[in-house]
Amino acid sequence: MHSDPAPLTARHTGPLKGRVRVPGDKSISHRALILAALAVGETRIAGLLEGEDVLNTAKAVRALGARVERTGVGAWRLHGVGVAGFAEPAGPLDFGNSGTGCRLMLGAVAGCPIAATFDGDASLRKRPMRRVLEPLERIGAHTLTSSDGRLPLTLAGAREPIPIVFEPPVASAQLKSAVLLAGLAAPGETIVIEAEATRDHTERMLTHFGADVRVTPHGAHGRRISLVGQPELVPQPVVVPADPSSAAFPLVAAAITPGSDVILEGVMLNPLRAGLIETLADMGAVIERLASRNEGGEDVADLRVRAGALRGVEVPAARAPSMIDEYPILAVAASFAEGTTVMRGLKELRVKESDRLTGAADMLRANGVQVDIEGDDLIVQGSGRAAGGGLVVTHMDHRLAMSALVMGLASEKPVKIDDGSFIATSFPDFVELMHRLGADIA
Ligand code: S3P
Repeated sequence: MHSDPAPLTARHTGPLKGRVRVPGDKSISHRALILAALAVGETRIAGLLEGEDVLNTAKAVRALGARVERTGVGAWRLHGVGVAGFAEPAGPLDFGNSGTGCRLMLGAVAGCPIAATFDGDASLRKRPMRRVLEPLERIGAHTLTSSDGRLPLTLAGAREPIPIVFEPPVASAQLKSAVLLAGLAAPGETIVIEAEATRDHTERMLTHFGADVRVTPHGAHGRRISLVGQPELVPQPVVVPADPSSAAFPLVAAAITPGSDVILEGVMLNPLRAGLIETLADMGAVIERLASRNEGGEDVADLRVRAGALRGVEVPAARAPSMIDEYPILAVAASFAEGTTVMRGLKELRVKESDRLTGAADMLRANGVQVDIEGDDLIVQGSGRAAGGGLVVTHMDHRLAMSALVMGLASEKPVKIDDGSFIATSFPDFVELMHRLGADIA
């Protein structure tokens, strides 16, 4: 399904101008498909992200017995099989590049009395799965894996799932969500206690579908989430808001390209996803929230961003969960700021679609920006400009690819990337949308 390598070059032309809507949120899109597949009856989804990652989740739930139909652009209709109702798939489930699809579905399958083989591309095959398998085994699932905790692996779901109390060792919404999805099949209460609150789309959507989910504060930054198992999930319409992690690219592009004035429509502003906007505001970026409203249970607004001077800031480790996917593009913004930006506590970046800590530093270095990694911190010496002229190696990572192209739009010399094909995993019309704003990417 994935296409051949596609080198791309971005160069500075004029200011970016216009009004665009980025595609639907990736996290919510995966969850909408999975909960629709576990509900009894017909769920309609509007605004689904039709990127490769989400399409792989759609294929997986179809292979597990849900009826899945596409009825229009972003419009999908599913007939679910009920909690614990997945049927054994005929072949391996291929999640391509998607850690989220894979880990959430490991959880969903762990509560069903079936076996399924999980696989993915070369990037996903390197990523850690043991962190998810460990609690799923406590719930009663069994794993068969050839190389310790990596794909491909076969999971035999629990015949009699046990509700557990789980304290994730890392701040990860994927891990939390996998346990909650497995807990759906267990009798009694499944409890997840997170020291750092992570994106709460699973909790919100479970509630939307009628499950009994209670969320209470825990410690300074954490939450305790309890889910009453074996609910009947009742189909609900789902409207997917625009993805703030995709909006991040045109947002930063406009903030650093002189003279730009861009409106991004309907961007989801869930507080557990809004760390980049908070950080850009600290840096002095001119971002206005227009027409704030609630759509599909999430706060959304149109964001107007205008280019302006940025200054370096310190980004605390506690903010990482709310902007975990945004560090590569923040590193680009930091290059164009005056002064030092210190981003702390980025250990998890090493196990994303690529080692994004190293990848982001290499991207900046290749384009004449001074950058250091100290432990788990990324330190960028901004000078208000970047020379550009570099070739960025993207390591099968969509976010490194888009970040490097945004860098090229404001650099003195063009920036090239070795492969833009992975952009299709999360933002298939990225290049076209940037063209509409006046960007030169070819
Ligand atoms: C996601 C959670 C994050 C994020 C990923 C999407 C999700 O991963 O990096 O792109 O939808 O739950 P972790 O929770 O593992 O940090």
